[in-house]
Amino acid sequence: LWEHHAQGFGNTVAYSQQDTTLCMDLLCMEFSGVGKGDFREPMLELTQENGCVVTDFRCRAHRVYAGKAEIPGMPSAHGDCDTLEMTLDDPVSGASVILFYHVFSDCDIITRHMAVTAGEKPLVLHRTMSFQLDLPESGYSLTSFHGAWAREMQPANIRLVPGRYQSDSKTGTSSNQSNPFFMVETPGCTEAQGGCYGFNLVYSGNHCEIAEVNAFGRTRLLSGISPFCFQHSLAVGERFDTPEAVLTYSPAGRAGVSRNMHHFVREHIVRGVWQYRRRPVLVNSWEASYFDISEDKLVAQAKAAKALGAELYVVDDGWFGRRDDDTSSLGDWVENPKKIPSGLQGLAQKFAEIPMAMGLWIEPEMVNPDSDLYRKHPDWALAVSGTHPSMGRNQLVLDLSRDEVCDYIIARIVALIGSAGIAYVKWDMNRCLSDICSGEESHNSDFYHRYTLGYYKIAKAITCSFPKVLFEGCSGGGNRFDLGILCDMPQIWITDNTDAHCRVAIQTGAGYGYPQSVMGAHVSACPNHQTGRVTPLATRFAVAAFGLLGYELDVTKLGGEESVAIREQIAFYKEYGELLQFGNSRRLEFSNDNYTGWIVISHDQKEAIALLYQRCYLPNQPSPILRLPGLLPEQRYTVRELAPNGQQCVANGDLLAYAGMRLNRIAPAAGQGEGLLVLPDFGAALYHIQVSRE
Ligand code: DGJ
Repeated sequence: LWEHHAQGFGNTVAYSQQDTTLCMDLLCMEFSGVGKGDFREPMLELTQENGCVVTDFRCRAHRVYAGKAEIPGMPSAHGDCDTLEMTLDDPVSGASVILFYHVFSDCDIITRHMAVTAGEKPLVLHRTMSFQLDLPESGYSLTSFHGAWAREMQPANIRLVPGRYQSDSKTGTSSNQSNPFFMVETPGCTEAQGGCYGFNLVYSGNHCEIAEVNAFGRTRLLSGISPFCFQHSLAVGERFDTPEAVLTYSPAGRAGVSRNMHHFVREHIVRGVWQYRRRPVLVNSWEASYFDISEDKLVAQAKAAKALGAELYVVDDGWFGRRDDDTSSLGDWVENPKKIPSGLQGLAQKFAEIPMAMGLWIEPEMVNPDSDLYRKHPDWALAVSGTHPSMGRNQLVLDLSRDEVCDYIIARIVALIGSAGIAYVKWDMNRCLSDICSGEESHNSDFYHRYTLGYYKIAKAITCSFPKVLFEGCSGGGNRFDLGILCDMPQIWITDNTDAHCRVAIQTGAGYGYPQSVMGAHVSACPNHQTGRVTPLATRFAVAAFGLLGYELDVTKLGGEESVAIREQIAFYKEYGELLQFGNSRRLEFSNDNYTGWIVISHDQKEAIALLYQRCYLPNQPSPILRLPGLLPEQRYTVRELAPNGQQCVANGDLLAYAGMRLNRIAPAAGQGEGLLVLPDFGAALYHIQVSRE
């Protein structure tokens, strides 16, 4: 594997006169600093007190051992692994670096991070990436995931050409604009074949992914904390740890990367009692009532939810302070006596009598100027002294870089959750950071990172105080959908967009890097509140069933047919919940992008459920072919469309994967028929696949 020499020509810089053929710019490096002839983007950039930026790190020692240590102050992967540590010393700055490699062989993942320690001279760190990977060739393409509120995780694919591509977040969160997950595909890579690399970061703040193709046809990949507004001072002997990066490679295309990442997230990121426990089917008050909630309404909703078979009722925003809209009360985490006269405890008691588990919405990182908390501690909100801070959703961000602010939040929220029998907490965070200026001046040069560490501190303290409570991360949907959140909270509300048509794209995008067991997915009313679109209830369910199912509509106002349908949906989801939530999921391929499909397969490959989704019905076109990959090739399966008179077939796994099931579709206008598939606009069909007894 080792390239011994790189021949220097022309104006290349030789590392030393002892070997004029050793030019770092031509080599694949494990680590690069600045100023010794490697002209690519470095992994580490620092300055000494005298302004010198040159570093010359050399390997001093290494060690290999079983297991891994935690990264101070930051979440990281857990579970069985082997570790390689390489220690590098730099005679120029006096600093040393440890490169950590953790090998998770059960899922073909290596995680990496770096620790930088100042020697006898203080330093300022400007860039500390979590990994550097130099690939010897070029010609790759890179897929990263972008979007905005309500249209998260849209893939963008570019061919990497000489020069540099960067995807990053500057919002203070991992952001819905650019997710830290990305893939690098070798030429010719497809969904199911060809070399594909996948990368992610266990981090919830500003991040940055860089791909650079240099003059010599090498491709460098880097990822880590964004260098944007990042200057971290290291005193003599002090150490800085980067977040952990996650790397995988699969020769089985994008599907192989997704499989490795899904396994890794389930097994080594999510933890605690909910790691593999089926998540409850919930009903949430938000789209049913918005801020207009009351004790009577909530109890009536919870009773109706119970009758449908739901297991948890979530009291979303609007229950506290004087919050009748989004202009007030964030920070005042005390129930509004006008809306909830019995108090949270009394409400929980009424829920217990139904019986229905109770969930609660909070947004602990934020404060409204119109709140008692702000009136008491105006200096706790981010602002540049003497100026008006910029607002987002009428709220300000609390300064989580300060210990006293974090300690207050922890104490208040722990008391709140402990005060009533709360089974689930939805932790929201509804704006990006601005006015990033702390009252503690020394926090400002690396404020974004300090905020993220503050978030980890409060998230860990609060979630660890309630190990049995199910926490769901949320940031106006998917503005903080990342592996850092998932270390403390086993699931995240992936988008506020509950339109099934939009969710097909969002869930597909997220599914490249994340398993369905971490994605909250709800059925809502139509016309949809975000798009105005009307989609069939069956489709809304089928799409949400490939995530953690919830309902977000007024369950007291359902028509008779809707109630029956929803009761059946919930019963179905509960029956197949383990499979739907924790099975191996894959994307299906079609010759035509009018269709999207997913399959989720049990770990023993004896059972599966597949979804076929059609954007719009186009007349006089051939029926789609349903190819079902991932089953046992020699095994005989029965495939059954889950609809009255649905089509059935019996075939071997290899036939289902390659030839596929030929669907007999008829025009929606022509009605129904035995064994015929009727798919209207935004139509979906579910298929149950089981080892055949025939
Ligand atoms: C944004 C969330 O994503 C919604 O689901 C809802 O909880 C609102 N915030 C409440 O303000």
